Amino acid sequence: MSVGVIVARLSLWRGAAARPLDGLYLLAGEGGSPLDGLVLPAALRRVLSRELERVGFVGRDGELLAAAGPESAFRRVVALGLGKPGEVTLAALRKGLRRLLEQATRQGDRTIAVAAGVAPTDVEAAQARAVTLVELALADYTFDRFRARRRNGAPVSRVHVVPSRGESTARLAGLVRDAERTAARVRLARDLGNRPGNDLTPTRFAQEIRALFRGSRVRVTVLRRRQLEQAGLASVLAVGGGSAHEPCLVSLEYRPVRPRATVVLIGKGVTFDAGGISLKPPADMASMKHDMAGAAAVVAAMRGVAERRPALRVVALLPLVENLPSGSAMRPGDILRLHSGVTVEVDDTDAEGRIILADALSYAARFQPDVVVDVATLTGACRIALGHELAGLFCNDDALAEQLEQSARATGEGIWRLPLRAAYRELLRSEFADLKNSGGRWGSLPASAAFLERFVPAGVRWAHLDIAGVGHVGRGVNGLQPGATGFGVRLLEALLDELAEKR
Ligand code: BES
Ligand code: MN
Ligand code: ZN
Repeated sequence: MSVGVIVARLSLWRGAAARPLDGLYLLAGEGGSPLDGLVLPAALRRVLSRELERVGFVGRDGELLAAAGPESAFRRVVALGLGKPGEVTLAALRKGLRRLLEQATRQGDRTIAVAAGVAPTDVEAAQARAVTLVELALADYTFDRFRARRRNGAPVSRVHVVPSRGESTARLAGLVRDAERTAARVRLARDLGNRPGNDLTPTRFAQEIRALFRGSRVRVTVLRRRQLEQAGLASVLAVGGGSAHEPCLVSLEYRPVRPRATVVLIGKGVTFDAGGISLKPPADMASMKHDMAGAAAVVAAMRGVAERRPALRVVALLPLVENLPSGSAMRPGDILRLHSGVTVEVDDTDAEGRIILADALSYAARFQPDVVVDVATLTGACRIALGHELAGLFCNDDALAEQLEQSARATGEGIWRLPLRAAYRELLRSEFADLKNSGGRWGSLPASAAFLERFVPAGVRWAHLDIAGVGHVGRGVNGLQPGATGFGVRLLEALLDELAEKR
C-alpha cells in the first residue's frame, strides 16, 4: 500500500554499543529495584542501581529524576516513577512513556533506550508490550506540514527497547514491526485531524481517502450533491449548505469471503465547525478544525482493516461537511426531513454533528449490520464531564459495551459508559417537527445520544463514542503533542478483533 511507515525507528537494545546512547529512560514502580525485571548486563545493572540509589529514586507516582549514566552505555539515566505496582494501569503506563519521551525531547536526546520493568495490572504483559511499543513508535510525532522546518528541535529519532526478563527477543521483534504499522495509522489520524479547514475540505478529504485505499481491498464510494439528494441524504447538504465547499458522504467497504458479521463504523467529519448561524464564540474556535477527528479515526482504522483483513465485513460511513454561516446556511427553525423520514427542527445550527450522524445511522440499515459504532466530537458537555482522560460511551447493548470496555482496557484508550434513557428524549420534543436537534443546556450530553438513538436501525447493536474531550488536546496534556491525538484508532481496531473472534 502507498503510505510509507514513518515512525521513530524502534529496535531492540542488545547491550552497550561502540558509541554510548544519549540516554536510558526508565519507568519504574515504587518499592523494589527500578531495574527489576529488565534484561541488563550485570556490571551495568550494578552501576545503574548505585546511581539511582544515590539520587534517591524510589518510584513514587510522578517522581522524575536524572543521573549521569555510565559513560560506556548511556550519557544520562532518567527515571520516572509510576507509584504502587499493584495500581499501575495500561493507560498510566502509556502516559508515563509519553512523559519520558517528552523529557527526552526536551533534553535533546535523540537516540535513547527505553525500559519499563512495571507490568500493568489490567492487561497481560504481552498485550501491554504491544500497546506501549506503539507509544514509543510515536515518539517523534509532530505536525510539520505547514512549517519550513521542525519547531521543537530534534525529537527522539531512535528508540532501543530494553527487553524484559522472560521475553523472547524474536517475539519482541515481531511486536516492534506491528507497533510501527499501528503507529503509522495513528499518525495518519493525527495528520488528518490537524489539517486546517482551508486545507482539508470535504472534497479534498474524500479525494485523499480514495488515494489511501487505491489498490487495497477496501472499496471507496463518494456520494456528491446529486447522489445525496437521490439517496434522501439532503440533510448532509443542509448542514453543509453554508459553505462554498460542497459536502459529501464517503463510504468504504471491506468484504472478505466468509464474514462472521457486518460492522458499520461511522465517523463525524465536520472539516470545520463555526457553529453556522448559531455562531460559536471566537475564543478557541480555531480548534474546531479538529471536528473531523471521528472520521479520521475511522479512516485510519479502515487502513488497519485493509492491512490486517479481519473476518468481518466492515463498512465505514463518513459524512464530510463544513459548518459555516452564510446566506445559504441552514437557519434555526428550519425543519429537515431526514433519510429515515423523521423530521427535525433545527433548534441550534451548532448541533450539526447529530444531524449528519443521524442520516449516516439510518443509511447504515442498507448494509444489514450486526453492529454499528459511531465516533464523533459531538458535545462540549462530554469534554466538560470527562476531560481529556476518557471518551463517553453510549450503548444499547450490554455485551457490546463490555466488548468496548475490554478493548479500552486492552489499548489504554479509556471510555466511560453514560446513560441512554427514554427520559432524555423528552428534552428534544419539538412544537413543529418530530423532534428538535438540541434540548438546551441541562442534560445536553445524554440528550445528544438520545437524539442519535432515534435513528439506529431496529435490532442493531449500537455504540456511540463521544471523543470531544480526547480527540484533540492543548499544550502540555499527558505528554501528548498539542492537537489531534488519533484517539479511537486503536480502540476500534481492538473492537474489530473482539468482534471477529466472538461477535
Ligand atoms: N463540535 C462541537 C462539539 C465540541 C466542542 C467538540 C468542543 C470538541 C470540543 C459540536 O458540533 C457542538 O457544537 N456541540 C454543541 C451542541 C449544543 C449546541 C447542543 C455543544 O456541545 O455546545
Ligand atoms: Mn457544532
Ligand atoms: Zn461539531
